[in-house]
Amino acid sequence: MRARTRAGVGLMATGLATVMLSTTAAATPGHGAPGVGDPYYPGAGNGGYDVAHYDIRLTYQPETDLLSGTTTILATTTQQLSRFNLDFGLDVDSVRVNNAPARFRADGKDPSELIVTPARPLAANQFVAVTVRYSGTPSEVEIDGYTAWKRTNDGALAVDEPQSAEWWYPSNDHPTDKATFDVSVEVPDDSAAISNGTLVRKSKQRAGWTRWNWRSTQPQATYLTFLAVGAFEVSQSTTPSGLPMLNAYDPALGADLYAAKASIERTPEVVEALEHYFGPYPFEAQGGVASTGIGFALENQTRSVYSDKFFRGGSNTSVVAHENGHQWFGDSVSLGRWSDIWLNEGFATYAEFLWSEDQGEGTAAELAQYMYDSVPADDDFWQVPPGDPGAENQFDAAVYDRGAMTVHALRTAVGDDAFFTILRTWLEQKKGGDARIPEFVDLAERISGQQLDELFQTWLFTRGKPEVGPNGETTR
Ligand code: ARG
Ligand code: ZN
Repeated sequence: MRARTRAGVGLMATGLATVMLSTTAAATPGHGAPGVGDPYYPGAGNGGYDVAHYDIRLTYQPETDLLSGTTTILATTTQQLSRFNLDFGLDVDSVRVNNAPARFRADGKDPSELIVTPARPLAANQFVAVTVRYSGTPSEVEIDGYTAWKRTNDGALAVDEPQSAEWWYPSNDHPTDKATFDVSVEVPDDSAAISNGTLVRKSKQRAGWTRWNWRSTQPQATYLTFLAVGAFEVSQSTTPSGLPMLNAYDPALGADLYAAKASIERTPEVVEALEHYFGPYPFEAQGGVASTGIGFALENQTRSVYSDKFFRGGSNTSVVAHENGHQWFGDSVSLGRWSDIWLNEGFATYAEFLWSEDQGEGTAAELAQYMYDSVPADDDFWQVPPGDPGAENQFDAAVYDRGAMTVHALRTAVGDDAFFTILRTWLEQKKGGDARIPEFVDLAERISGQQLDELFQTWLFTRGKPEVGPNGETTR
């Protein structure tokens, strides 16, 4: 599913996309490219088709880590295709393209590329249904030196960034091809299977097993589609604004359980506060999952997943504000390229500032200033430019903290009225799609009527501590 590009704002993106396509087009006519041309992850995503919907239907046995089933991909070809790639790391039993058996093989050099050759070449602009049948033990699959599928005491998690799909469903794994999802997972009766969106049905068809059916109806990036299996305590309610909320708590949280609940159960209140700054919440459901199985938090669409470590010191609504800030910045408006990560992390960290301001625990100006003053100019922190940090520094503290200081420096430069108009216009224009940093700079300049190149050049792209702080004061 590709975003509609609006006239004006889209000019820059269209130019960039054209350059990317011409340098990454498939070498052989009719072969879909093995990547979309992302500078940080050349194999991420694929060329030649555009996915509208994934239908994932699996059975998972936590005791053995055996995952099996089918994924059906509904897509439209964007070129003539004699073959195309899917991003997938498990062993495949069969592939059908428009119901006809297709040939398939793993790329010998890259274990996450599955090459599919349909019985007959596909024409351009044609609807295509691809059904992949597979089974495997995902925790044994290593791609690019890591395993996104984590086994826990009583289940497993498919939660990671920039990649997690390869371990459980075949996809076009890049945030520029978002799609809607039906995720159906059958697990033993004593387990829950949690995913994005709304729990549309729980059903039984054989003794000992329960099938959990989830539906996510807004365009969703592949890495934000998650699965959490375990003996979760599930709490369901309706938010004051009428959205279904579903939260899940790992029983292994132990003494941290109440701190997790005191944070995650307040998601609707946090979202309401952020709506005041960002405009309407973009999705149909809310919630969170607290797990002992990961060491970070991730903004999975409609239902973020949180490491228990965030709740070890008591309640933590700051992380709830961060992950829910991502529902606007990252999930609704997704990255055009992974090098644009500032558009996710800088703004999600700024959402923490806004929540603090809303709660009377310090203004964004105070928080940004404290961050700026706390890190000496000779600290390595200032050597990572958040506007293009490099794949190895994608989640460096600079992307988050210097990224949020950058957002505040913009607010200082243009004033509150223009600043919040920029944020809301951006989110409204790019909703459901993807975007790049130059487009944001362009919009900020058009709305403020100011020349902002120097501000962004200094804060996002230049190594070293900016001489002018986030509140406009020169300290040296
Ligand atoms: N986007 C996540 C967050 O800001 C960070 C994920 C970091 N990924 C990782 N594998 N450690 O909350
Ligand atoms: Zn984040």
